[in-house]
Amino acid sequence: MLSSATVVGVVGAGAMGRGIAQVAAAAGHAVVLADAKPGAAADARAAIGKALASLVAKGKLDAAARDATLTRIAAVAAAPATLSASAAPLDAAAFAHCGLVFEAIIEDLAAKRDLFARLADAVAGDAVLATNTSSLSVAAIAAGCPSPERVLGLHFFNPPPLMPLVEVVPWAGTFPALADAALALMTAWGKTAVQCADTPGFIVNRIARSFYGEAIRIAEEGTANYATIDWAMRTIGGFRMGPFELMDFIGNDVNFTVTRAIYEGFFFEPRYRPSLTQQRLVAAGHLGRKTERGYYDYRDGAAAPEPVQDRALGARIVERIRAMLINEAVDALRLHLASAEAIDTAMEKGANYPGGPLLWCDQLGAAAVLEQMEALHAEFGEDRYRPSPMLRQVVRERRTFRRNATRDPKADHIKGDP
Ligand SMILES: NC(=O)c1ccc[n+]([C@@H]2O[C@H](COP(=O)([O-])OP(=O)(O)OC[C@H]3O[C@@H](n4cnc5c(N)ncnc54)[C@H](O)[C@@H]3O)[C@@H](O)[C@H]2O)c1
Repeated sequence: MLSSATVVGVVGAGAMGRGIAQVAAAAGHAVVLADAKPGAAADARAAIGKALASLVAKGKLDAAARDATLTRIAAVAAAPATLSASAAPLDAAAFAHCGLVFEAIIEDLAAKRDLFARLADAVAGDAVLATNTSSLSVAAIAAGCPSPERVLGLHFFNPPPLMPLVEVVPWAGTFPALADAALALMTAWGKTAVQCADTPGFIVNRIARSFYGEAIRIAEEGTANYATIDWAMRTIGGFRMGPFELMDFIGNDVNFTVTRAIYEGFFFEPRYRPSLTQQRLVAAGHLGRKTERGYYDYRDGAAAPEPVQDRALGARIVERIRAMLINEAVDALRLHLASAEAIDTAMEKGANYPGGPLLWCDQLGAAAVLEQMEALHAEFGEDRYRPSPMLRQVVRERRTFRRNATRDPKADHIKGDP
């Protein structure tokens, strides 16, 4: 169905499309790259050439492999036109030989449906259409297509050549063997592929909501400022970046949009409720590093706020955010989003977490996590803090989430806690 000989098409030559094209070409596929914006595909191909050249300069790639990879990518010219959803031009004939086509165009359901409907006419009947959507429903995108059973989500992370994770997302009607074929192909491309259900935010973006949302809650309550929460999550929690520096890095507009999409996608589930704090930052144009202002001030001469390095306070912050992440992961498992292994792998490889939430739960002991969630629920009285029924079940049955997991007595003392 999918093999190393499959010609790969990529429509949308922005940040994600060009990265996916590079990964596919590096894996040996002939690649057809197109974009509605005139010249964009050629520009993207030139940018891929630069990225490959810098790998050669760093000694990570030899010149012959660079040339071979770039030669495999053909940039297709598009006729000038608007980027409007229905009028985006596409030289469909260029895709006639593709066995797998990715779309990485704007995050707009009408535009993606329109594109897939036209692509389906252009490609062979057994070609696979993959969407890189972050927040739209794969089912809704597939529904616009004459052969919806050949559509699935293949969600890469930014930047695709560096980030190892790909979420493989069949919708309920995807041809059953296709998910397995896609998992195998992504593995052959050197990626870590995990399968998950077609639900808002898939695995990583859904579970990561707690990392941001709970941190904002703690700051809104005045328990600690941004710098202290970031310090705690880094030095005590072992996370590579704290939530506020990470939101500023991602862009508050992007982060807020994802949160809103997931909140609305889950019919206003309170656990995902966006915050006024972030909404106000976005309204003010304080989008993070790219506008030099966000949770922090990045302008020349601005003083960086000092964290309050109180380890007991830091440990409480880490414990609370970590309990929320674990509860979210447990509930995702309860609702059959993905396997326990897939959930943990996704959070490690897609969000760079220092471990998987379900393994943390096993190490801490599910009873201790349940107690933390019950304490938060009792304190705030909000549905947001209700423990997942599966957490109670696992405590009752004295089970672990991960096979062979053992409780780590040291885990009672959060990393670095004196
Ligand atoms: N940026 C991320 O971190 C990230 C991560 C994972 C998934 N995604 C998803 O990947 C997709 C692309 O995101 P991006 O960040 O690369 O966007 P981008 O804005 O960098 O690139 C989108 C490209 O698509 C082109 N385009 C727009 N409409 C088109 C159409 N109808 N036909 C053909 N080309 C069209 C644009 O000209 C642009 O070059 C989105 O669905 C996004 O949600 C983004």
